[in-house]
Amino acid sequence: MDKIYVLDSGGQYAHLIANRIRRLKVFSEIRPNDIDPKEISDAKGIILSGGPQSVYEDGAPQVDKRIFGLGVPVLGICYGHHLIAHNLGGKVDECEVKEYGLTEIYGEILDSKILEGLNRKEIVWMSHGTEVTKLPHNFKTYYRTKNCYNAVIADPQKRIYGVQFHPEVTHTKCGVKILDNFLKICGVRRDWVISHFIDEEREKIIEQTKDKKVFLLTSGGVDSTVTFLVLSEILGLDRVYGLFVDTGLMRKDEEREVEKNMQDLGFTNFHIAYKGKEFLKALEGVFEPEEKRKIIGRLFLDIQKEYSDKLNLNPKEWVIGQGTIYPDTIESGGSKHASKIKTHHNRVSEIEDLIKKGVIIEPIKDLYKDEVREVGISLGLKKELVWRHPFPGPGLGVRILCSKEPDTLHNASEIEGGIKSDLGIENTVLNIKSVGVQGDARTYRHPVALFFEDTPSWDNLEELSTEITNNFYDINRVLLCLSHPVKPKKIRVYNKYLTHDRVEVLQEIDYIVMKNIKAAGLIRDIWQFPVVLLPIGLDNKESVVLRPVCSMEAMTANFYKIDWKLLDKIKNEIMDTGKISMLFFDLTNKPPSTIEWE
Ligand code: XMP
Repeated sequence: MDKIYVLDSGGQYAHLIANRIRRLKVFSEIRPNDIDPKEISDAKGIILSGGPQSVYEDGAPQVDKRIFGLGVPVLGICYGHHLIAHNLGGKVDECEVKEYGLTEIYGEILDSKILEGLNRKEIVWMSHGTEVTKLPHNFKTYYRTKNCYNAVIADPQKRIYGVQFHPEVTHTKCGVKILDNFLKICGVRRDWVISHFIDEEREKIIEQTKDKKVFLLTSGGVDSTVTFLVLSEILGLDRVYGLFVDTGLMRKDEEREVEKNMQDLGFTNFHIAYKGKEFLKALEGVFEPEEKRKIIGRLFLDIQKEYSDKLNLNPKEWVIGQGTIYPDTIESGGSKHASKIKTHHNRVSEIEDLIKKGVIIEPIKDLYKDEVREVGISLGLKKELVWRHPFPGPGLGVRILCSKEPDTLHNASEIEGGIKSDLGIENTVLNIKSVGVQGDARTYRHPVALFFEDTPSWDNLEELSTEITNNFYDINRVLLCLSHPVKPKKIRVYNKYLTHDRVEVLQEIDYIVMKNIKAAGLIRDIWQFPVVLLPIGLDNKESVVLRPVCSMEAMTANFYKIDWKLLDKIKNEIMDTGKISMLFFDLTNKPPSTIEWE
């Protein structure tokens, strides 16, 4: 099968490139930036990804120069574009004007095959503070921007191309065309479909497991169920032991639903460990999100060890399986040069050590959710299971915020006074924090809540939300208060950690939301719908945030503009429970906030 290799220098979107190439029906794999060219001698084309550093910095990722001599087409994207110039005799310098976001490019000459079908002016997505200032020998400039002269460069004879922008993100409308043109230049066959994934994995899985068996922690979600199916099909049911850990932090009645799904799928090798009490005990008195995540991740591993001992499994005969997918890895800072946004439960340091020892097997770790779903469909999983919303491994554990004391922001009143709008609003900065992502890095900052007597349109709200997070450094989320049109006098912060009562409250409210979304037929339109419990509110009762989002692969997301009537119905049902005092709606896209709050 023809292959395109993507050499990863640590950009948050590096794996999107491989995803896009696979969507164009060509098999694509990620390899480290400094791979020995001998290992990719079967390449039909090479793409150099973006990355967070500058090529001239000490320790910046480099490529082996010999890849330019393999005789196959090379496309450099952003940092990869700089690597081309840097390695072939050009020059790279800091930009006078850095470019972030949508940018116009102007065509100088358009006679390159890689630009077929492009217009003289195109809008592309940029994210760079460094640029190519001198071209290597035989290179020409094809496009420029107002501030960056060498936005697209090429040596057509050697078939080496560099683009300063990101063709892999959907914001670059001509991006797919450029990638498609590159594949034409590579002369590859377009015969890869997602069902080939299992054939591709077969050899790797057999090679990695040798004659060992696999102990798989499965959550019943689509990722781990697909992993379970792939492993069971390739190795046979008797070489795979599936363990579902009931953390007590699942959705209402979820464990029963998962058990039934597994029985229906014929998994006679599926087992359940009831560990709700252990999880709550381990999380007693814990407030900080990363600490919660690490404790939960470690406990999963302890339970896996406990079961291995109980079952007398010889570690020499077993490896551990996980249903990790790509965003879990990249956001945990898992590629060599990427920064950490949050530690996903399957990426705690103990697991990282086991990965180094070669005892962890993760068959779908390079796929995105949409691809996992396609593999699931090709393996015959029923629709309800394939289209289940993603649910994080730590479950409601990261949707129940904890606090020791009010986290007061010193300049809150300045921000509150500075939020100007002709929409007639009141606002307040909340004395809690949540996780966000900006400029490829983690933030942990405050939300601001908006109160309206006449609620504006979703578009106006989105505009206002973007304006607030762009203008106020300390704010990474914007909420619309659904329960109170007028700002209450004092919103209190309660001293709370994770307890059974709080889990039950959230389960009940989450159940109301999911029931309504299913009844409205919105399970596919809404990509994921976290419901989050906040330790703040009125009259000793807490508050809840609704966080519906649409997304392709979780790396970026937009808040979902839900029908107001449906939202009103959900609000009334939630407030009627009498369990919470305030209800909010999260108006923030990702970036600047993440999908989950922790
Ligand atoms: P964020 O919150 O980073 O989440 O925008 C991106 C996607 O990942 C899910 N998520 C997790 N999934 N283990 C998982 O398996 C985790 O620890 C974890 N944390 C977040 C999140 O629900 C969203 O779909």
